[in-house]
Amino acid sequence: MKELLCTAFFEKFAEIPALVIQAPGRINIIGEHTDYNEGFVLPAAIDKAVYFAISKNGTDKLNLFAIDVNETLQIPLNNITKQANYTWANYILGIVAQLNKNRLAVGFNLAFTSNIPIGAGLSSSAAVTCGAAFALNHLYNLNYSKVDLVVMAQKAEHMYAGVLCGVMDQFACLMGKENQVIQLDCRSLDFKYVPFDIDGYKILLLNTNVKHNLADSQYNLRRQECERAVQLVQKKYVNVNSLRDVTAEQLEECVLNEDTIAYTRALFVVNEIERLQKGCIDLQNGDIIALGKKMFATHKGLSHAYAVSCAELDFLVDKVSNNENVIGARMMGGGFGGCTINLVKETAIEALVADIAPKYNAKFGLALTHYVATIKDGVKII
Ligand code: GLA
Repeated sequence: MKELLCTAFFEKFAEIPALVIQAPGRINIIGEHTDYNEGFVLPAAIDKAVYFAISKNGTDKLNLFAIDVNETLQIPLNNITKQANYTWANYILGIVAQLNKNRLAVGFNLAFTSNIPIGAGLSSSAAVTCGAAFALNHLYNLNYSKVDLVVMAQKAEHMYAGVLCGVMDQFACLMGKENQVIQLDCRSLDFKYVPFDIDGYKILLLNTNVKHNLADSQYNLRRQECERAVQLVQKKYVNVNSLRDVTAEQLEECVLNEDTIAYTRALFVVNEIERLQKGCIDLQNGDIIALGKKMFATHKGLSHAYAVSCAELDFLVDKVSNNENVIGARMMGGGFGGCTINLVKETAIEALVADIAPKYNAKFGLALTHYVATIKDGVKII
């Protein structure tokens, strides 16, 4: 990958890049739609990544080259704006826009390529924002901490891509550690690494290869529904700031009769925050069977109460739910398409995919692709 990237950079800009970095995608074991409710998540960086090559160019312009779509864009440093026709560029420009202009007194040439499947729910967009932030921080000696970069990358997504995402994807991409999952408190950003030992089992991602286009609008709507629930609880319990502070009893008391949609959504989140905490104890006790059961429960909640699944995801989870070689499965990420995450006995993976793929294709007319994900370090120079 590095060689390919450096060749493309050289052909485009007639120089060798000063810096080459890799920014991974992420998985999440459990704790979905909890990050923007100040709950916990359990993500990890994986072995699929976006690769960047970058150099300062001595001019007052940025030259951005998206190798995979063969598009180049030149933007003056003093006129960083959102691009309607080059959506990929917005993830980089959203970072540049936040950096003090005096600090970037001179422009840069940047080329990037990715092997993270787009729309698969593996956070390719966070990999681009985090990779760009990390690369610029290093190239210009800006001295931001990694956690500063997490916040900056999240803001870029809010402002330049219009998705009001939480902090999970960026945190996993920047802070990931080989063979460890990150138990992250999304309120304080306190975290700890937990070894992910699932002897004889692997993390299998089954890609629906669909991304229904309501994903972004429904995501933002779920945030509003959760906020409505919080506001109703706050009328009586003034110290409550987010669903993290709320109990199922409080929801029943303050929300149920006022706003059934908000109640149903919020109850899922409150349960999911608790489920994750219990799942972490399972993991520490080496009880992956119990953790897997919770993953199935999460899927049920995401599908029915939170209503962010789709027929394709439900089909894939249903097809493995009675398979003795699969200890846990659920949709992963924002929803409405992308991948399911499955904990599967290593020796059973091939047969499982061979069995489900034709059935999936017959039902939806879509190919089923699969990846065995391994847990790797977060963003780094290569
Ligand atoms: C997307 C968002 C994350 C998180 C998940 C759902 O991946 O980017 O912040 O909210 O959805 O858990």
